[in-house]
Amino acid sequence: MKTYIVGNWKLNFNVGEASVYLHKLQKKIANYRDIEVVVAPTALCLQSLSLQLDRSKIKLGAQNAFYQDFGAFTGEISFAELNGLVKYCIVGHSERRYIFHEDDKMVAKKVAAAIRHKITPILCIGETESERAFGETADVIRDQLLGGLSEIGAEDVSKVIVAYEPVWAISSTKDAKIATPDEIAEVTEMIRKNLKEVYGAKTSEEVPVLFGGSVKPTNAGAYLTTPGINGLLIGGASLILEQFTDIIDIAKRVK
Ligand code: 13P
Repeated sequence: MKTYIVGNWKLNFNVGEASVYLHKLQKKIANYRDIEVVVAPTALCLQSLSLQLDRSKIKLGAQNAFYQDFGAFTGEISFAELNGLVKYCIVGHSERRYIFHEDDKMVAKKVAAAIRHKITPILCIGETESERAFGETADVIRDQLLGGLSEIGAEDVSKVIVAYEPVWAISSTKDAKIATPDEIAEVTEMIRKNLKEVYGAKTSEEVPVLFGGSVKPTNAGAYLTTPGINGLLIGGASLILEQFTDIIDIAKRVK
């Protein structure tokens, strides 16, 4: 399986900044066939970046889209529009769930719409700090995972990438709020166990599982060698070219 290094730029970089960053990144990296480097800029940047993209090195991802193809949905963009523009789309990021109130039903429809339009959904799941404190992690993971997959057929599950992003470990500045490889391995095991129970052993092994939450060059090696982890979903560090390329180098080394 490939290693996925995905930069989620969130609401950062305007079209000009994104374009400058992309050019620099493309200069710095080669075509690493076993590493899938993905950047997910804001929706406004996708069109222009797609025209400048060296697809042998980098793939484009969207951060979100709506599940209806067209209609009276002011402010939304659809997976139908993204078709041909991006290879991936992040779905159900915790910032969408908690700031924009997306629930598992909405997330499931988005996963299905992505698959329908031949875009690989990166389904984000993860518990909050209080859910972890109350011992609810396993239930949250199960609900968000199986809930998110509930609108697609079993044959399409292996087309999904799952990203485990514990909400408490995102944009963390304190060491205590950085997930340890052991904590991640435990949840990765839960993810594969759930997939295995519902969709069978083969599918559970085929679904890539990424980790996200304050990934930096200093911890990327440990995360990438955590059992069951096939890549990283990176926020803050993906905005800093040196850090992002350092993480890609680490991925190459540990491969
Ligand atoms: P940070 O790497 O900034 O913690 O963000 C993680 C994230 O939410 C990626 O989707």
